[in-house]
Amino acid sequence: MTRLEELLGEPGPELSVPAADAPSSGGSDAPSSGSLDAGSSGGPDVPDTGPVLSFRGCTRTYPGPPRVRALLPFDLDIPAGGLVTVAGPSGSGKSTWLSLAGLLDRPTSGTVALDGQETTTLSEIDRTDLRGRMIGFVFQAFHLMPLRTVTENVELAGLYQGMDRATRRDQAAEALAVVGLTPRAMARAGQLSGGEQQRVAIARGLVGAPRLLLCDEPTGNLDTATGAGIVTILERLAATGITVVVVTHDPDLAARGTIRVEIRDGRVHVR
Ligand SMILES: Nc1ncnc2c1ncn2[C@@H]1O[C@H](COP(=O)(O)OP(=O)(O)OP(=O)(O)O)[C@@H](O)[C@H]1O
Ligand SMILES: [Mg+2]
Repeated sequence: MTRLEELLGEPGPELSVPAADAPSSGGSDAPSSGSLDAGSSGGPDVPDTGPVLSFRGCTRTYPGPPRVRALLPFDLDIPAGGLVTVAGPSGSGKSTWLSLAGLLDRPTSGTVALDGQETTTLSEIDRTDLRGRMIGFVFQAFHLMPLRTVTENVELAGLYQGMDRATRRDQAAEALAVVGLTPRAMARAGQLSGGEQQRVAIARGLVGAPRLLLCDEPTGNLDTATGAGIVTILERLAATGITVVVVTHDPDLAARGTIRVEIRDGRVHVR
């Protein structure tokens, strides 16, 4: 059984993510901080270790001009497993935060540890390698190749991770089964509905069994009912021990987080 199968073998109809009593943090001028323990992740093979993501004294300033202090100093620990929602007004710093979490960007100051490993001082090659092994991404605008088949789109993620052809094929098939798209595996991606395309994108994000699935507005292009189906899939994944992080403008979705991060004017708070 592969790690992906182990993680996703028993999704169960019920959500089993324990509620986290997250301390709210930060006075208006104090650095924000959050130290969270969501308890046992419930995943079958996810060790009960420290936080999967740990930010210390992080800031991000875009030099400009004009200079933009997109994230003010914050500390934050994200435990393994569960649904983490990140909400806040447009321009508050959500995508900036997600880029730090996904090792797509480096903080201007401070450190970001992934599974206990400090990442800011790593070379770009090592960060890319770590990202490829540990993190999957899902974006609002699916970013699929419309003329390629669903399977080819998902397999591409395995290619980037250096998997051989057979492994790519197996992983794509598994991931498509997880999102309920096995019957559409040979369709061209561009022929699918928006909700189905986002499920393909989630499957692509799952290739390689990441510890973290980072989603920027995954329901932003979908109607309410279709978006709800996507959220159900993400919650199921979160219940298996993957840490699913969802940036959203939708207050209903934000409220479903076991951990709720809120960003306002560059200040990171945990609810
Ligand atoms: N590459 C960049 N260079 C300069 N400023 C940037 C850059 N990226 C973002 N910003 C600025 O940083 C701030 C935070 O932007 P960010 O994209 O993180 O917001 P957001 O919360 O994701 O907004 P939205 O909800 O609209 O996606 C904004 O003021 C934005 O203009
Ligand atoms: Mg954004």
